[in-house]
Amino acid sequence: MDLGAGIGLFAQTMAQRFPDLTTTGIECAPYMLERMVELPSNGRIVIDDLNAPSSLFLQDSIDTCMANMLIHELHQPILLFKQVKHWLKPGGRLILIDMVRQPLESYLTHKHPDATRLGRDQLEESFQHFLEHNRYTPEDLSFMLQHCGFKVEILEPFKKGRAVRIAATA
Ligand SMILES: C[S@@+](CC[C@H](N)C(=O)[O-])C[C@H]1O[C@@H](n2cnc3c(N)ncnc32)[C@H](O)[C@@H]1O
Repeated sequence: MDLGAGIGLFAQTMAQRFPDLTTTGIECAPYMLERMVELPSNGRIVIDDLNAPSSLFLQDSIDTCMANMLIHELHQPILLFKQVKHWLKPGGRLILIDMVRQPLESYLTHKHPDATRLGRDQLEESFQHFLEHNRYTPEDLSFMLQHCGFKVEILEPFKKGRAVRIAATA
C-alpha cells in the first residue's frame, strides 16, 4: 500500500514488478487524482483523507505500507498510524520516508546560502515551506509509531539530518 500516492508512480512500479501482489495507493488531492498514471489490473487507487482514514481494509490484511513524503503534510498522523497498525499483518512493515524538523539555519542556508539576497516572494515561500516541512523530529515520529503499537526497527537520518527513513514493524 502506498499512502499519499501522488500520481501513482510508485503504485504503478510495484504493481508491474510484482504481478502476483495487489498494490493500493491512497490519495485525496484532486490535482494528483486528475494526473493519475494508468495502473495494471493488480493496482488501484482509493480516494481517502489520511488525516482520518476510513476503514478501508480488514484487520491483518496488508503486508507492507509505504509513506513517502506524506507525514509532514498531515495535521496529525496518530489516526493514520493506528489504522495502519490495524491493517498490517503481524510482522508487516510500515516504511516511512520524510523531511524532518531542523534548525532554520540549516533549512534556509541549504537552499539559499545568503538569505539577505532574496526578495519578499522568495522569502515568504521559503518560510512557508519551512513551516510545512519542519513538522516532526525523527524522535517525534518514533514516539508516535511506538505509541501506536509499532516496533521501530530502523531509523536512519539522511540528507545531512534533513530527512529520515524509518522501518517499523506491526
Ligand atoms: C509530497 S507528495 C508525495 C507523493 C508520493 N508519495 C511521492 O513520493 O511522490 C504528498 C502526497 O500526499 C498526499 N496527501 C497529503 N495529505 C493527504 C491526506 N490527508 N490524505 C491523502 N493524501 C494526502 C498529497 O496529495 C500528495 O500527493
